[in-house]
Amino acid sequence: MLSASGLYKTYGSTAALDGADFAIRPGEIVAVMGPSGSGKSTLLHCLAGIVPVDAGTVTYAGRDLGAMNDAQRSALRRADFGFVFQFGQLVPELTCLENAALPLRLAGVGRKEAEARAGGWLERLEVGDVRRKRPGEVSGGQGQRIAVARALAAGPRVLFADEPTGALDSLNGERVMQLLTEAARETKAAVVLVTHESRVAAYSDREIVVRDGRARSMAGAL
Ligand SMILES: Nc1ncnc2c1ncn2[C@@H]1O[C@H](COP(=O)(O)OP(=O)(O)OP(=O)(O)O)[C@@H](O)[C@H]1O
Ligand SMILES: [Mg+2]
Repeated sequence: MLSASGLYKTYGSTAALDGADFAIRPGEIVAVMGPSGSGKSTLLHCLAGIVPVDAGTVTYAGRDLGAMNDAQRSALRRADFGFVFQFGQLVPELTCLENAALPLRLAGVGRKEAEARAGGWLERLEVGDVRRKRPGEVSGGQGQRIAVARALAAGPRVLFADEPTGALDSLNGERVMQLLTEAARETKAAVVLVTHESRVAAYSDREIVVRDGRARSMAGAL
């Protein structure tokens, strides 16, 4: 459903992506591994159409992301994609509940309905009790759970998660991964899961490794 071929992305003299290919099927959970600076986040941002590629194609549900204009790409992201970013990125001025409801509000769902649905996801992620607090008033682990709830609230077809447990201790990290993968399997969302940790990658169906801006299947990397 989402595939990419021959992706190149250069920042100055750094080749962040150097001919990367990628494909994920509906409902599949793929772990993207690799050393720091290898291009994992760049790959995720390019697949999601957040960052334009210098060369190569990203195709989602038969549509070429590169051929869309910015408005079409943002509409697609709002409708079909969910994001958990490497550094959490909740809106500090909004409560945790408002943060989780944001994608639904942006998709045109009314406040009450959006907050009811988002509240359900906060419960599910075991952070229903902090719904009225602001992100600055909750722990790192709670914040990350809220980010996961927000990413799932609008029912994405593809969930992009960049080190979703990077800021968590191992116990919290395990729990968030359990909840995230359970929810993804239940809603049949595909997950592109960037992680350093093989413990986290163990929750995926398949692992790929990015090295020097190129993606390989785990078997090929060994
Ligand atoms: N916005 C940017 N401007 C300049 N260079 C960038 C930018 N984003 C990434 N890079 C460079 O591109 C390369 C790949 O970065 P990327 O963030 O994709 O790595 P990563 O695999 O996600 O690393 P990490 O595991 O540390 O998050 C790195 O050399 C990085 O310094
Ligand atoms: Mg990264």
